[in-house]
Amino acid sequence: MEFGHETVVLRRGQRSRLPIIVAVHSTVLGPAVGGCRMWGYARWEDGLRDALRLSEGMTRKCAAAGLSNGGGKTVVVLPADRPLTADERRAALYDVGDIVAEFGGRYLTGPDAGTGVADMGVIGERTEYVFCRPEADGGSGDPSPFTALGVVAALRATCLAMSGSPELAGKRFAVIGAGNVGAQIARQLAAAGAALILSDVDPAKRSLAAELGAEFADPESAVTAEVDVLVPAALGGLLTRELVPRLRCIAVAGAANNQLAEPDVAELLRAGDILWAPDYIANAGGVVNSVSREILGDDPATAVKRIESIADTLTGLFETAARTGITTAAAADALARQRLAAAV
Ligand code: PHE
Repeated sequence: MEFGHETVVLRRGQRSRLPIIVAVHSTVLGPAVGGCRMWGYARWEDGLRDALRLSEGMTRKCAAAGLSNGGGKTVVVLPADRPLTADERRAALYDVGDIVAEFGGRYLTGPDAGTGVADMGVIGERTEYVFCRPEADGGSGDPSPFTALGVVAALRATCLAMSGSPELAGKRFAVIGAGNVGAQIARQLAAAGAALILSDVDPAKRSLAAELGAEFADPESAVTAEVDVLVPAALGGLLTRELVPRLRCIAVAGAANNQLAEPDVAELLRAGDILWAPDYIANAGGVVNSVSREILGDDPATAVKRIESIADTLTGLFETAARTGITTAAAADALARQRLAAAV
């Protein structure tokens, strides 16, 4: 982590008594944006580490996507052993809203793993600095279709780089994680005529696979299946030093944040001739849509155009990486760094 964080608030929620972290990594390009994750961790320190890494990722994500925004993230550390009651959840969301309000617009939150549109509506009762409230309340609603749209654009660019054609039909994909975003990626791939393996830790997702004519597999076998593209769409850290030598795909491109368990995994992927679409480039569609609609005041078609330009950004990065012999991760970092340097 090389840029250093501007502000990190770590506080026990006044109402919920839960550990809450709001990490603002950078506001160099503009107000920081980044979702609110509500997740169970063995230790609150793990939640803090997640917030630090994810907020830095948001700085890169926004910079590389050409947004005039910096990166932040909120993590609410849930009890590891039981779900929250509805009252406790509301209390935690109010606590988040109050902390976000203290930033006075220097940080805007939104949905992330474990939160959704309804939760943003609740946070919205405490602060205006929240994206993706229900459309009925004037928000831009569920960002996951837009994240999925951006990932599918990234998948086309990946197919173009690896096979000379952006065509998805006839190619084989393994989608790891059938949550909000993963399920929509799977739907779009199936509709485009791709062959699909779908995987989730929750066996109930088998019915979605059946509906889409996809094969359902447990995560372990899906990850190492022989496919054209592996599509991580669950939590981060999938690509470990141990896993990469066992992969049997040509490329990896997906929606999960922080896919590389260690930075040097980017080198291993390249050494194994596996093309990696940097996660924060491929998965920027949700935040691009939110900023486009809610800050820039764009109409839906303009927002979609911005999201689809993820494909061009990625194609440019693949070319730079191939031409200069650096990893795609290094090429993406250089792009983000360039945009940040231009702003100061
Ligand atoms: N969870 C989104 C991401 O990781 C962040 C987000 C923020 C989405 C604001 C929509 C709006 O990119």
